[in-house]
Amino acid sequence: MKKTLTTASVLAGLIISFAVTANSNGIHLDHSNADINDQKSLQNGAQLFMDYCSGCHSISLMRYNRIGEDLNIPAADVRKNLIFGDGKIGDRITSSLSKKGAEAWFGTTPPDLSLVSRSKGGDWIYTYLRSFYADKSRPFGVNNSVLKNASMPDALWDLKQRKSSAEFDNDVKDIVNFLNYVSEPARLVRVDLGYKVLGFLLVLLILSYLLKKEYWKDVKYGKWKAKS
Ligand code: HEC
Repeated sequence: MKKTLTTASVLAGLIISFAVTANSNGIHLDHSNADINDQKSLQNGAQLFMDYCSGCHSISLMRYNRIGEDLNIPAADVRKNLIFGDGKIGDRITSSLSKKGAEAWFGTTPPDLSLVSRSKGGDWIYTYLRSFYADKSRPFGVNNSVLKNASMPDALWDLKQRKSSAEFDNDVKDIVNFLNYVSEPARLVRVDLGYKVLGFLLVLLILSYLLKKEYWKDVKYGKWKAKS
């Protein structure tokens, strides 16, 4: 009884400490529900990222042709829709924004977003992009409730005006999905492979159990009983 109680209190303590760390900055994060297996969503996210974010942010650990291969976008479409300026299909995705210009305009350089979904988490980005509000005291007239005094303008303002709020949330989810993929392209294979391996182990477990039953059928009271 005592042991059960101790285990229970340790478990409760662990759960509480997790909940506290997850929410230590006091900001409620919305779930993006991004699904890495949804290829349409990833394709839409890639397009939106190039249209609305790549002017300022690089994702320099990624190349255009890798996106084309992984997301099933034909090379011709990658050239036409995703590459701006004189970029080549094998190039890494850098931003044309100069460091000097960025510092003059924003007071800081827009960070590279290759790994941002690993450092901040998809839900953080999802909430951040939907949390801009008007604030006259800021240089761009907007502030952000997730990243206080962010020096980034509301890049999706124009998209938000053209869409219903459900459509807008869905587009932001697609951008997050794309950034999740960019920060770990192997996820496309890894998650799927994980299910297959677990499925295989389950089948193996059933077979091993049946085999064990078959072997032990002839053993009674710890003694081998030969079949007569
Ligand atoms: C006009 C330039 C500009 C555009 C366009 C822009 N950003 Fe930013 N972004 C910035 C700047 C500058 C910061 C740094 C903000 C700060 O630290 O105050 C930033 C910060 C961020 C951060 C926080 C990164 C971190 O680790 O703190 C994320 C995430 C982000 N941007 C995502 C996006 C996405 C997604 C888009 C496209 C929808 C986008 N940004 C479009 C300029 C831009």
